[in-house]
Amino acid sequence: MNMHAAASAQAHRLDHRTSAFARDVVEGLTKHPKRLSPKYFYDAAGSELFEQITLLPEYYPTRTELGILRDRAKEIASLIPPGAALVEFGAGSTTKVRLLLDQCSFSAYVPVDISGDFLNAQARMLAADFPALGVYPVTADFTASFALPAAVDAMPKVGFFPGSTLGNFEPHEACAFLRSARDILGPGAQMIIGVDLEKDERALYDAYNDAAGVTARFNLNVLVRINQELGGNLDLSAFTHRAIYNRERHRIEMHLISRKAQTVRILGRSFAFRAGESIHTENSYKYSLARFTALARGSGWTPRASWTDADAMFSVHALVAAE
Ligand code: AVI
Repeated sequence: MNMHAAASAQAHRLDHRTSAFARDVVEGLTKHPKRLSPKYFYDAAGSELFEQITLLPEYYPTRTELGILRDRAKEIASLIPPGAALVEFGAGSTTKVRLLLDQCSFSAYVPVDISGDFLNAQARMLAADFPALGVYPVTADFTASFALPAAVDAMPKVGFFPGSTLGNFEPHEACAFLRSARDILGPGAQMIIGVDLEKDERALYDAYNDAAGVTARFNLNVLVRINQELGGNLDLSAFTHRAIYNRERHRIEMHLISRKAQTVRILGRSFAFRAGESIHTENSYKYSLARFTALARGSGWTPRASWTDADAMFSVHALVAAE
């Protein structure tokens, strides 16, 4: 098959979701500097690599947040009215939500995620373990507007957004997300949100440059996806993982650096790289308590309580929707 025929056969096979990926990859690799969205890390292999990251000795956020939720569960529970619906934005491992469900008397749990299969499997497991809880999964992009199930209409609402996923949003996107969450949850709603904190640069650097190289594989996985799903011919060994802390912008930046001058082909198009040229793949913003509470206030929420671990590595906040 010639190049043109191969590309059109490939284009033919593109389903709706893949074509958004194709469009974003072509657009992102045409930009200067080149960019890819971190949302494309998370196919099945990328999600599994992320689960491995959460267990790494260098990656403190997951275990630190779990520790805060465990230590403060009673205080958190005391803020939550009985019979509320817990709405989780994104569905990953259920370990954190189980801590809240164990301590608070929620009537319903509404996990919201774009990946319906994974979501429904997680929801079934939780429903089996909490038989009195109404579990109503919603398959939706939680960064956009979506409707809550009618079954929770009359219940007080509590949003849950753990893991410092907010940090992967640009500041204006974080603000837009918080505003949209307030609109979806409604007046009087509460939000429990995990936010990673600014700290010693070494600890931040190590968390994104683990000795076992799992974060590097996670980063490179987006190139694996381009090869598998878009018929790319990228040589993975010609790119290297780089994560740096950008102090002025309060963020870890992840990049994939081309080790040499090269031209790659994706969907029948050519993309040229200079030696040392970067594809910027992720930002992970780190907040001070003051900067986060200012962001929350500016996005329609009133901070009610904040907790950190003893070393002030990570924070969990309770917010109330402003009137
Ligand atoms: C999901 N998110 C909060 C992670 C983070 O720390 O920004 C993703 C990640 N990227 C590299 N390691 C982990």
